[in-house]
Amino acid sequence: MPDSTVVTIERFFLEQERLHPQASGDLTQLLYDIALASKIISGYVRRAGLVDILGAASDTNVYGERQQKLDVIANDTMKQMISWTGRVCIMASEEDEVPFPIPAEFNPGKYAVLHDPLDGSSNFDFNVSIGTIFSIHRRITEAGPGRLEDCLQKGRNQVAAGYVMHGSSTVLVYTTGEGVHAFTMDPTIGEFRLINPDIRIPAVGKYYSINESYSDRWSDGYRRVVSSFKGSDGADHKKNARYIGSLVADFHRNLLAGGVFMYPADSESPQGKLRLMYEASPLAFIAEQAGGAASDGRRPVLDIQPTALHQRTPLLIGSKDDVAFVEKTIAEVDGA
Ligand code: AHG
Ligand code: MN
Ligand code: MN
Repeated sequence: MPDSTVVTIERFFLEQERLHPQASGDLTQLLYDIALASKIISGYVRRAGLVDILGAASDTNVYGERQQKLDVIANDTMKQMISWTGRVCIMASEEDEVPFPIPAEFNPGKYAVLHDPLDGSSNFDFNVSIGTIFSIHRRITEAGPGRLEDCLQKGRNQVAAGYVMHGSSTVLVYTTGEGVHAFTMDPTIGEFRLINPDIRIPAVGKYYSINESYSDRWSDGYRRVVSSFKGSDGADHKKNARYIGSLVADFHRNLLAGGVFMYPADSESPQGKLRLMYEASPLAFIAEQAGGAASDGRRPVLDIQPTALHQRTPLLIGSKDDVAFVEKTIAEVDGA
């Protein structure tokens, strides 16, 4: 007998549409398009080492970073699966210098999609978890192909955000502003199944995550924070260190177990490394929806008004009290 309690992502979306009969259903369809693109990307990821997708491609991206073959494949797959559906007016990717306005013949739709097609790509050759991060805004321009201003909106305006992580299983996590839900790919039926509805991040977490090899470039505030997490100020801030180097995987672990991920500005990277539109902002929406927080050190990431598509931001993200502790410590030590 089939298990009638199996909630596939399709069943879950249909239920959301039933609960919101006034909605057009375009957003859930768009999320379904992203789930489909993710299944295709997962097909490549799971064949890594068996087919020729490991290693570097011949190009560099807009940040001057050498692209991996899978960066290119994932980016193309996202565009092919999403661009022509009539639901999207513009797409912007970490890998592309300029956004891709959907041509009039593809019937541009209501939404702008921004994505990091492959997060953690330097880890891919070594069988370490990687993923895709996405952010969806409602268009603010009237009609026709979307424009840059449809993309350059505050994170607070996102209508949905999520990520797909290819780890020991493939997991899709998303929010539309009504909680955070996680689905796990069941390879026996080829479907994402709802496993963790309404995830809540603990207020104080077990882990801190930062690339400590840059400690000589940090401000004194960050040195103080990390030394507190090592237990220097008594036991109450002590945490265990975990740093994978794939933001999506570091974030996912801290979302479930609690913790704080930090990629600060430092003396060599005055804005940090991570990208506001493709990485920080979507994960900030998820963190807040799960009861956590995300900050650039001074203000919520979701309140930053972007001025450029590829701008970077320092990022502290995870458990609410931990993020507040880091903000307070760096304000005390480094000043405003
Ligand atoms: P991407 O693979 O999309 O370029 O992102 C890499 C990012 C992020 O996933 C991770 O948190 C960070 O780079 C790690 O950077 P460091 O190697 O400087 O720690
Ligand atoms: Mn990334
Ligand atoms: Mn990337």
